Amino acid sequence: MRNLLKFLSAALTAPLALGFAHPGPAFTRTSGSAITTTTTTSRKATEYSIADQVERFANAKKEKNERYLDISSVYNGGDLSGKRVLVTGGNRGLGLEIVKELVAIGATAIVLCRKSNPDLEAIVGQWNVYAGVDVTDDEAVKKAAKNIKNDGGALDVVINNAGYFYDPFESILEDTMNFDEQLKQINICGLGPLRVNAALVQAKALAEDAKLITITSQAGSCEWRAVQNKDKGGDYGHHMSRAACNMAGVLQAQELKSKGYCVVLLHPGFNRTEMTAKYKDIWDVEGAVEPKDGAKRVLYETIKASMESTGKFINCEDGKEIPW
Ligand SMILES: NC(=O)c1ccc[n+]([C@@H]2O[C@H](COP(=O)([O-])OP(=O)(O)OC[C@H]3O[C@@H](n4cnc5c(N)ncnc54)[C@H](OP(=O)(O)O)[C@@H]3O)[C@@H](O)[C@H]2O)c1
Repeated sequence: MRNLLKFLSAALTAPLALGFAHPGPAFTRTSGSAITTTTTTSRKATEYSIADQVERFANAKKEKNERYLDISSVYNGGDLSGKRVLVTGGNRGLGLEIVKELVAIGATAIVLCRKSNPDLEAIVGQWNVYAGVDVTDDEAVKKAAKNIKNDGGALDVVINNAGYFYDPFESILEDTMNFDEQLKQINICGLGPLRVNAALVQAKALAEDAKLITITSQAGSCEWRAVQNKDKGGDYGHHMSRAACNMAGVLQAQELKSKGYCVVLLHPGFNRTEMTAKYKDIWDVEGAVEPKDGAKRVLYETIKASMESTGKFINCEDGKEIPW
């Protein structure tokens, strides 16, 4: 019995002692600093992005960091020319700008969305819009995956962009928790990309070396909560949904390695879209960009995604990793 207790106690403390667990990356309103740490697997120092978004943006300006401040100075979408790229939620916001940029660089953009519109169809062609598909609907997603394959062949890139952020601030102390909304966010943002990728794999709708990109959020970093949500917590469903999304991405990276698909998680940076309109007052100080620039940031990192970066969680603002 004593040996069993000793074994259990060692097993429970081992991950922390070995540094597997970081003490504990959203839209942010507080302060912090750069974190440099050592990964337990490679023992190589990783220079992470900075949790404090005000500081991160101020540093970029101080350093005249072109990569951060003007993505067009480094971005050239040429590598995606001629590729077939699926974008979920490509009917508005960041997704629509990604779609426009894909078309501009000569890629075939295919859109999976709930509701199409004439402007979107004029951009990508009516036949490239798979509408009526909610990413929480198993059957609709499976059917769309089969149709995409049968209609036009294999996809080279998938950009899981559809997402949802419940508007009111959730807090235990203010008694504003909404568990149904939490589950909805987890279903859309956590399970949505997994559901889409799984259906595409099963439908054999992916090209040999396809890239599976998921637009997640820095909101999914546990470690960054101590800075970005310092002493206030909140927005439970938002953060939990992205933590689930990230875990699903890491597991997919492991399982799909043998198929040659890389799975990369991208925080798209802070974009001036409907989703973040509630944060309008901090757009300037936190360096929020127009979604057409956010789209280039996402595509820049999509082009870089490879089997070397599979399973990584990357900030499209500076190209650095975000700690889990
Ligand atoms: N904007 C930012 O600063 C920021 C920061 C971090 C992460 N992100 C992530 O980036 C992605 C794009 O954000 P955004 O700012 O463009 O948001 P947005 O303007 O609110 O657009 C969200 C998109 O997701 C779609 N969507 C929502 N629920 C869906 C569902 N159940 N099934 C299918 N599609 C659904 C929406 O389609 P409908 O038109 O049908 O609603 C819309 O196309 C999201 O995943 C978001 O979480 C954004």
